[in-house]
Amino acid sequence: MKTIIEPFRIKTVEPIRMTTRDERKRLLHEAHYNLFALHSDDVLIDLLTDSGTSAMSAEQWAAIMRGDESYAGSPSFARFEAAVKNLMPFAHVIPTHQGRAAEAILFHLIGGPGRKIPSNTHFDTTRGNIEATGAEAVDLVIAEGRDPSAEHPFKGNMDLAALETFLRENADAVPCVMLTITNNAGGGQPASLENIRGVAALARAFGKPFIIDGCRFAENAWFVKQREPGQRARKIVDIVRDMFAEADGMTMSAKKDAFANIGGWLALNDDALAREARTRLIQTEGFPTYGGLAGRDLDAIAQGLKEIVDEDYLAYRVRTNEYIAERLDALGAPRVRPVGGHAVFVDARAFLPHIPPLAYPGQALACALYEYGGVRSCEIGTLMFGRQPDGSEKPAAMDLVRLAMPRRVYTQSHADYVVETFAEIASVKNRLRGLRIVEAPPALRHFTAKLAPL
Ligand code: F0G
Repeated sequence: MKTIIEPFRIKTVEPIRMTTRDERKRLLHEAHYNLFALHSDDVLIDLLTDSGTSAMSAEQWAAIMRGDESYAGSPSFARFEAAVKNLMPFAHVIPTHQGRAAEAILFHLIGGPGRKIPSNTHFDTTRGNIEATGAEAVDLVIAEGRDPSAEHPFKGNMDLAALETFLRENADAVPCVMLTITNNAGGGQPASLENIRGVAALARAFGKPFIIDGCRFAENAWFVKQREPGQRARKIVDIVRDMFAEADGMTMSAKKDAFANIGGWLALNDDALAREARTRLIQTEGFPTYGGLAGRDLDAIAQGLKEIVDEDYLAYRVRTNEYIAERLDALGAPRVRPVGGHAVFVDARAFLPHIPPLAYPGQALACALYEYGGVRSCEIGTLMFGRQPDGSEKPAAMDLVRLAMPRRVYTQSHADYVVETFAEIASVKNRLRGLRIVEAPPALRHFTAKLAPL
C-alpha cells in the first residue's frame, strides 16, 4: 500500500476550540505579536515545539499507574535504568527533570573559563549552559549544514577536518567533544554512523570524552537506516546501540525521543565524573534514583523508550514532515532541504523577500500562520538571534519558521490544513508587513518581546 497510515488508533481526545480569523487578529494584537504569549487553547494546530508535547500510549498511562514514589531505591528507577541501558549501554544513568538540567550538571563539572567545547551545532540551552560557566561553545558542522537549500543526506555531520584542526590547536582547553543528533538548530538533520565513528576516533586520539546530545536519537537512527550505505537491512535498535557504543556519555531530553511529557538524563561511563555528577544532582535535582522526576515519570520514559524504536512509527513520523514539505514545494514556499526528523523549517526570508531581515520576516510569517489558520509555529531567525552583545541589531544567518511536529498528536488532515493555511498566505504574501520590537529584554528576547506591525 502507498499510504503510510498513522500506526495507532485514538482512544482519548482533546478538543480543539475553533476560532475565527477576526478573533485571532485580536488575540494576536493582545499578545503583542508574540506567539509565546498566546493561550494554547486559542491555537488550532500547535507546532511550536515537539518537546514534551507527545501523546502517550495506553501502555505509558498504564506504566504511570505502576510508578513507585519511594524516595530511594524505587523499582521505577530500576525499570528506567534498564530501558536506557538496553539502548545506550552506559555505566551510569542519572535521571534529571529535563535535558537542560543534565547539561547544567555536566558543564558545571567540566566547563569553566578558558574551556572550549566543540559540537556539530550546540542547541541553545546547551550553548547557554556552557557559556554560563565561562566556557566557549564552538559549532563545527559541515558547510552543507549551514546552507538551507543544499541537498545532503547527513547535514548534521561534524566537519571532521575542522574538528581535528580545532583539537590540535586547542587540545588543552577541550574537556569533551559533543555531537547533537539530530542537529535541531540546523534543521533536524542527522549525523551518519560513519561520522559518529569519525568524531569518536578523533576524540579518542586526543584523549577526550565524547558526549552525544541524543534528544532525537531514534529519528537519527531512522535516517541512518534509510540513507547510509549498508544500513538498510539493519534493525533500528542495533543502529541505536552502534551510535551510542562510540560515546563516553550522553545528555538527553526524554521530552523528545522517549515520548514523555517531562524528563531527561545524563549518562556517563567515567566512575569519578559520575560520582561528582550525582553529588551535584542531589544539590540541584534530587536523589539519584529520581533526579527531579516522579517515579511515574520514570516509568513513562521506560515504556516510551520501547515504543520510540518502532519502525512503523518512525516511517510515519518522517513521512508526515515529507508530506507537508512536498506540498509546500508545490506552493513555492522555500524550505530547508532535505526535510528534518521532527520539523519542517520554512525559509521565510526567501518566501517574503519584500520584508528585510531587520523587520523579522520569520516572525511576520509565524504571525500570518496564526492569523490565517490558527497555526502556531516558531521563528528561528533575527528575532531570536539578531541582538548583538553591544545592543545593536544584525540579521541572523537565516530567517526560518519551524513547524515542529508533536509526536503521535496530529493526523494527515491536520497536515492538509497546515498546507492550506500556507496556500492562503501565498496568495496574499506581498501584502504581509514586517514588525518592529516595542519592548524586549536583553537576553532570550524572543520569549517575551512585544512587537507591533510596521
Ligand atoms: N538539546 C536539544 C537538541 C534540544 O532540542 C533541546 C530542547 C534540549 C537539548 C534541551 O532539552 O528542553 O528537555 O531541557 N529543545 C526544545 C525545542 C526546547 O523546542 O527544540 P529540554
